[in-house]
Amino acid sequence: MNRFITIAIDGGAGVGKSTLAKLICSRKNYLYIETGNFYRAIAYLMLEMKIKPESVAEQLSPDFVKFHSKISSKGFELFIGDTNCIELDLRSADINKCVSDYAAQPALRKFLLDFQRKQVTIAEETGFGGIVMEGRDIGSKILPNADLKFFLSADFETRMMRRDHDGESDEIVTRDLKDSKRSTSPLLKTDDAIEIDTGKLTKEEVFEMVNTELEKII
Ligand code: CDP
Repeated sequence: MNRFITIAIDGGAGVGKSTLAKLICSRKNYLYIETGNFYRAIAYLMLEMKIKPESVAEQLSPDFVKFHSKISSKGFELFIGDTNCIELDLRSADINKCVSDYAAQPALRKFLLDFQRKQVTIAEETGFGGIVMEGRDIGSKILPNADLKFFLSADFETRMMRRDHDGESDEIVTRDLKDSKRSTSPLLKTDDAIEIDTGKLTKEEVFEMVNTELEKII
C-alpha cells in the first residue's frame, strides 16, 4: 500500500493554487484543504460583529469561534457552529479587502495552527491517500515536513485575468504585499519548495509537473 502523502502549495493571490490542488485531489483521492477559507471565515465573523483586526485576539475562544470540520463525499467542509461556511460569501470584495489584516494577527494564526495540522490525521484516518493543503505558510509553518512543497507564481496580467474570470473584485497586489510583509508566518518560498510559474502553462501542464515529482516518491 502506498504511504500517506502530504503536499504543501503556497503562493500569492490568483497564482493557481486551488486549481492545482483540486486537480491533484481528484486524480489521487487526496483530501483538499483550502486554508484561505479559515482566515476568510474568521474575517467574515469579525466583520459581522464589527470587531477590528487589532481586537481579534480577545475574541478567539473556542466557545466563540466554534470551528469544526466535516469530511464527506463532498470533501472537506468547514463549519462555524451550525453554519456551513459554504453558505457564506467568503470571496466578497469586503472580505478580500480585509482578510489579510486579520490574517496578520499572531493570535489568529496561533488559534488556527493546530486545527490545520489536525486535518492531516483526520484525512489519514478517513482513508484518503494524502492531503493537499494550500495557503501562504503551509510549507514554512503548518507542514514544514511535507513530502512535497510547491510555490506557485504567475505574471500580474494572468492573475488579474483569472480574478476577472471568477467575477471577483480583488486588490491582489495590496493583499500580496500585506501577506508578504507581516511579521508572523509571511508568504514566502522555502528553500525546499519547487517553484512553478503557472502563467504560461495549462492546468494539465502544471499537474504533470507535480505528478512527475509525486511519482518519484510514491
Ligand atoms: O484564493 P486566494 O489565493 O486569493 O486567497 P486565499 O487562499 O483564500 O487566502 C485569503 C487570505 O487569507 C490571504 O490573502 C492571506 O491573508 C490569508 N491566508 C494566510 O494568511 N495564510 C494561509 N495559509 C492562507 C491564507
